Amino acid sequence: RQLLLAGAAGDGRLPAGRAELAPRFRWRGMLLDSGRHLQDVPTILRLVDQLALYGFNVLHWHLTEDQGWRLEVPGHPALTEVGAWRTGPDGRPYGGYYTAGQVREVVAYAAARFVTVVPEIELPGHCKAALAAYPELSCTGGPFAVETQWGIHADVFCAGNDAVFALLGDVFDHVAGLFPAAYVHIGGDEVPKDRWLACPRCRARLAAEGLADVHDLQGWFVRRAGSLLQDRGRRLIGWDEILEGGLPPGATVQSWRGTAGAVAAVEAGHDAVVSPTSDAYFDYDAGQLPLEQVLAFDPVPAGLAPAAAARILGGALNLWTEYVPQERIDRHLYPRVAAMAEALGAPAGPKQLAAFLARLAVHAAWWPRLGITPGPASRPLRLEAARTADGDYAVRADLDASARAHLGGLDPRVRMAAVPRPEAWQAARPPEEQPALPDAAWSATDRWRGPLEAPMVVLAQLLVRGSDGELQPYGAPAAVELEPSLAAGRPVACAAPPSTRYPGHGEHPLTDGARGGRDFADGRWVGFEAADLDATIDLGAPTTVAEVSLRAIQDANAWIFLPRQVRFYGSPDGRRWDDLGTADHQVADREQQKVIREFTAAGREQVRWVRVVAENLGGCPPWHPGKGQPCWLFVDEIRVR
Ligand code: ACM
Ligand code: ZN
Repeated sequence: RQLLLAGAAGDGRLPAGRAELAPRFRWRGMLLDSGRHLQDVPTILRLVDQLALYGFNVLHWHLTEDQGWRLEVPGHPALTEVGAWRTGPDGRPYGGYYTAGQVREVVAYAAARFVTVVPEIELPGHCKAALAAYPELSCTGGPFAVETQWGIHADVFCAGNDAVFALLGDVFDHVAGLFPAAYVHIGGDEVPKDRWLACPRCRARLAAEGLADVHDLQGWFVRRAGSLLQDRGRRLIGWDEILEGGLPPGATVQSWRGTAGAVAAVEAGHDAVVSPTSDAYFDYDAGQLPLEQVLAFDPVPAGLAPAAAARILGGALNLWTEYVPQERIDRHLYPRVAAMAEALGAPAGPKQLAAFLARLAVHAAWWPRLGITPGPASRPLRLEAARTADGDYAVRADLDASARAHLGGLDPRVRMAAVPRPEAWQAARPPEEQPALPDAAWSATDRWRGPLEAPMVVLAQLLVRGSDGELQPYGAPAAVELEPSLAAGRPVACAAPPSTRYPGHGEHPLTDGARGGRDFADGRWVGFEAADLDATIDLGAPTTVAEVSLRAIQDANAWIFLPRQVRFYGSPDGRRWDDLGTADHQVADREQQKVIREFTAAGREQVRWVRVVAENLGGCPPWHPGKGQPCWLFVDEIRVR
């Protein structure tokens, strides 16, 4: 199929030739999370086609989650009647499930393309949807709703209740009938032990089985699941947490928290599949997991003896879907899937990025014909903005760590452009989705410097030398929005200092004129943990101030909330403070999308000092997985006009 697609005429004719394929690994997988967001069957079949096209042979189908149980199971209708539906962000039910007929269709379609479907039934955690259906299978008895928040949730299957294993036995009976794969994935990751510690039945189980603690209880639980699977002729695979309480015999470990789990497993004589967050989490943005990083991924951890290395079955890309609804899947898979195909299929040894990029260009030409919309390959540049001593602004573009590590051999160059901020510019959208600039707008430099009279956008694009010797753009452009401000470059005194983890770039990140983007870790945002922002700025001379403003971001999943309110003060002398006003907002703390808000107050004449107090929400709200625990306040800029 690749050769047919590559035929320029697209007329089905091929040059005569001979191709020999000998993929390096037996397990070339992709995890598809259907728990957080559902995919319709045509989308899954299309994915199977694409996996086959790229030589993947395992579709790891994550079918059960806190946020939804997606597999219809005969005899247990509540699993899907209740467990498949959660309250969506718009207040309406969101969800659905796959019938036996649909599963058979996917399995058969995949088998015809040499792809094995390995189902995942999560236990003992990530099962709140099942507990919503059968609260008696929890430690507390519930009641529960199917979870609407991402993250790790306290309620898990009760380890002391044999009815849990009766249900799992029925589920595995059905699974064994539907999925011919030798393996069933049982999850096993991220299991909080709080409920077990407090549960009399779980404590009785500990005593009866002679287990030392709740970690051993997790091991016992997984071993019992393993024997249920063995009775049904299936092998167990689970995330690396299944190592914690002792592996069931014959279990395969899928390493995700780095590769230590895989190393421990293969050194103990077990098999392992390797898919660390650092190299294989395709739900991450290209800034966190760039193409070049995926290409350099070697599923065999360094330093393994040959016999142990031979037990590495292969690797997988994991597409978790908290932030990836069906229509965004392509953007996360492409172009990185082509790099993972090489990491899993090509012979061992370093991959040549320049040659890969030349081959990738051939692939990229097919994608439109397959209806594929790729995302960015990488975000290789960081921009640092500062006001200079003479009042200009300066922006410098630097390679980020990944680009530095992987692109050195490709003669990386930077070009930059500065444009008045167009009306169409949407700070909330990534730069690659903004209108493209004409070639003439760019100059070959990694530094921009100029005056700032009106809002501007400064962009930088990385170029690398391809194997044909030509410089070509690589990765998404980086962009920074600059805004004039009378406070620009002025020192800021904060009553409580920002977190040392998120101090912001440069000397005065709160007055550098640079707006933060959608990523709270982009260096332009300044984070305060469990603290208010209380900032005072000396403007240097009495000044007529029209307006003072503060921008803040909410990213509830990262425990970052907008301030309760922002109070603004001005002073002519640093002693007498005039109240300039208080600004609040109507954004729900429950809002799961990122939100950026600007808070403003009117100024007055003769202001020399400006003080801004933004009140931290004070703690994660009651609905939040971190409820009651300290939360973050992130602000990027205090602007004075
Ligand atoms: C995982 O990402 N929790 C396996
Ligand atoms: Zn219990």
